[in-house]
Amino acid sequence: MPSITFIAADGASHVIKAQEDLSLMENAVAQGVETIEAVCGGNAYCGTCRVYPEAAWRSVLGEATEIELPMIEAAGDDTDGVRLSCQIRVTRQLDGLVVRTPPSQS
Ligand code: FES
Repeated sequence: MPSITFIAADGASHVIKAQEDLSLMENAVAQGVETIEAVCGGNAYCGTCRVYPEAAWRSVLGEATEIELPMIEAAGDDTDGVRLSCQIRVTRQLDGLVVRTPPSQS
């Protein structure tokens, strides 16, 4: 199972063993990562599952998709590399992934 680290705005980290073929958000919620609120349940409609992948992972994950961009804009978040974790599918290639979460999700 891929190991994925979430780092909150205050520096607290939470490492999970993620289940493949679920979204990053679904894994985070199932394992009690409190900084992933996911109010809309994964419909790209709330922006409360935002993550900032560490720079080395951005080329692996790619840019935010057309589904994500309107919600990211609505959230007023122009942070480099920002993604909606509900739109990231976990694969074994994500083992070791590190993402930060915004202060608004603390
Ligand atoms: Fe709402 Fe991802 S869970 S946008």
